[in-house]
Amino acid sequence: MGVIRSIISGTGSYLPANILTNKDLEQKVDTTDEWIIERTGIEKRHIAADNEATSDLAVEAALKALESAGLVPEDIDLIIVGTSTPDQTFPSTATTVQYKLGITKGAAFDVQAVCSGFIYALTTADNFIKAGQAKHVLVIGAEIFSRILDWEDRSTCVLFGDGAGAVILSAHTGSGDNHDQGILASRIHSDGQYNDLLYVDGGVSTTQTVGHLRMKGREVFRHAVVNLAAVVKEVLEDTNLTSEEIDWIVPHQANKRILDGTARKLKMSPDKVVITVHEHANTSAASIPLALDQAVRDGRITRGQVLILEAMGGGFTWGACLLRW
Ligand code: UT7
Repeated sequence: MGVIRSIISGTGSYLPANILTNKDLEQKVDTTDEWIIERTGIEKRHIAADNEATSDLAVEAALKALESAGLVPEDIDLIIVGTSTPDQTFPSTATTVQYKLGITKGAAFDVQAVCSGFIYALTTADNFIKAGQAKHVLVIGAEIFSRILDWEDRSTCVLFGDGAGAVILSAHTGSGDNHDQGILASRIHSDGQYNDLLYVDGGVSTTQTVGHLRMKGREVFRHAVVNLAAVVKEVLEDTNLTSEEIDWIVPHQANKRILDGTARKLKMSPDKVVITVHEHANTSAASIPLALDQAVRDGRITRGQVLILEAMGGGFTWGACLLRW
């Protein structure tokens, strides 16, 4: 008897036109292009225009994902947006995206897991599909982190950028073994005791301000490599696959040294890691679908290949999805 699997039937992404280079940042804070490249791998980032909201970036990415899936907005029965930089405190950015796409049926909601937002959203969507409650889910990661950065804090403002990525997750019948196309395993985790290592110092019920991002970078870095390697091992064990059988890792793009360190810990070749951090910087929940869309469109990712998507972010939250393309 067949089982329901969630396959990625389309991908799309959007980056704002305005580019901010490391050289530009040298004019704003006490930093250098060399320091940023050596410590992070970042060369530039995209910054949203004043009249662009997170939902605008999300809609652009969604339209491209719909087109690549050969679907129209009316086909979508659920929208999940991973974001920590919503248009408004409420309603959710997902309902605004729903409205802008002209969809009036189904449901839409946001997921807040900071840089792990896309993995959380994808895992949630997969469970709705497997439960038979949705056929085509629009899963988006969209962020405008430039609006929550302290542009005088060189330890954080050089690290982030804006953007959006989207996938369509569609119900598909599989045989239930690890040769199926689609999501084969996913794991999400959180541990709130690390709240104060990466957070925004404002909020609705506390300061009534939006606040600015604060991070103890070195400690986050240490936890990231350990947690990411551990969660990747979990999804490998869940599927009885080995790291040699993985074709691509599509990680959250925070720092090139984290990507290299995680690959090393997993004994995987750095050539199997999709890297966009040099071009986009850290776009939080948007970084995985942005990297995925790039590697699908340039032909690196092909049907039948096995991918692991993984992320870690504020909370801490972290997680991984293993899927066959
Ligand atoms: O997406 C969610 C997850 N986020 C992450 O995974 C981020 C994890 N952390 C990191 O990527 C790295 O820790 C950073 C890139 C944030 C920092 O790199 P680091 O190698 O850990 O540097 P550090 O914080 O230990 O700072 C080293 C030095 C310090 O100077 P002293 O105290 O050694 O004199 C900093 O003041 O670098 C200095 N520094 C800078 N120098 C030039 C910090 N920021 C800058 C800067 N330009 N922008």
